[in-house]
Amino acid sequence: MELQKTTTGEYTLYIPSMDETYHSRNGAISESQHVFLQEGMDRTTGNIKILEIGFGTGLNALLTAQHAVETQRKVYFHSLEPFQVPFDLIEKIGYGELVNDPKLFADLHNAEWENKVKINDYFTLIKTTQKLEYIHLQNDEYDVIYFDAFAPKKQPELWSEDIFRKLYKTTRKNGILTTYSAAGQLKRDLKSAGYTIENPPGANGKREMTVAIKG
Ligand SMILES: C[S@@+](CC[C@H](N)C(=O)[O-])C[C@H]1O[C@@H](n2cnc3c(N)ncnc32)[C@H](O)[C@@H]1O
Repeated sequence: MELQKTTTGEYTLYIPSMDETYHSRNGAISESQHVFLQEGMDRTTGNIKILEIGFGTGLNALLTAQHAVETQRKVYFHSLEPFQVPFDLIEKIGYGELVNDPKLFADLHNAEWENKVKINDYFTLIKTTQKLEYIHLQNDEYDVIYFDAFAPKKQPELWSEDIFRKLYKTTRKNGILTTYSAAGQLKRDLKSAGYTIENPPGANGKREMTVAIKG
């Protein structure tokens, strides 16, 4: 795993063996804000529970925690991450400084795993090392799912109809799943699982992304 600069100048992580980055190569922060905040959290109101697939660098958690404080909404954020990013890379990636809140970024990373940790009045975090395939999820639990797995071609086992059926069950009524991908098979699998699909424009000039709604 190594640091790589996006075209907008901030870092993302790159895994050479997979030829895969953690974020859009055309902007990590802009992608996270667009796909997960604008088309995810901002489509809901009030206090919410979010499930994230892939804590990774903690960028989505960081921006969501800041947004929770700005909008004075209480967010319970449950993030899955079986492969933790080494701490020396987290120290170098600099997202805390980029959003003018290094303490918040450090608090998210220093939070104990497997325990509910109150980061501030508006943001409670639980990071778990369980894999999505094996974790047991309660029915009707989450208002928003940030589906931020590696790309379908790189990690096909996480983009299966069975996985989306499991996620549909844990989505609350009127809740949503948002993801950067707009692959045809993804759309078909989400529909088969029971979701209604929307395809707004994606981040950084990408033609489409996917929002799946449980009506
Ligand atoms: C695209 S990256 C996520 C980026 C992250 N949301 C961020 O803000 O940096 C995909 C993440 O999914 C994690 N992952 C891989 N296999 C997984 C699995 N079976 N269940 C849950 N997460 C998994 C990877 O380790 C990686 O951190």
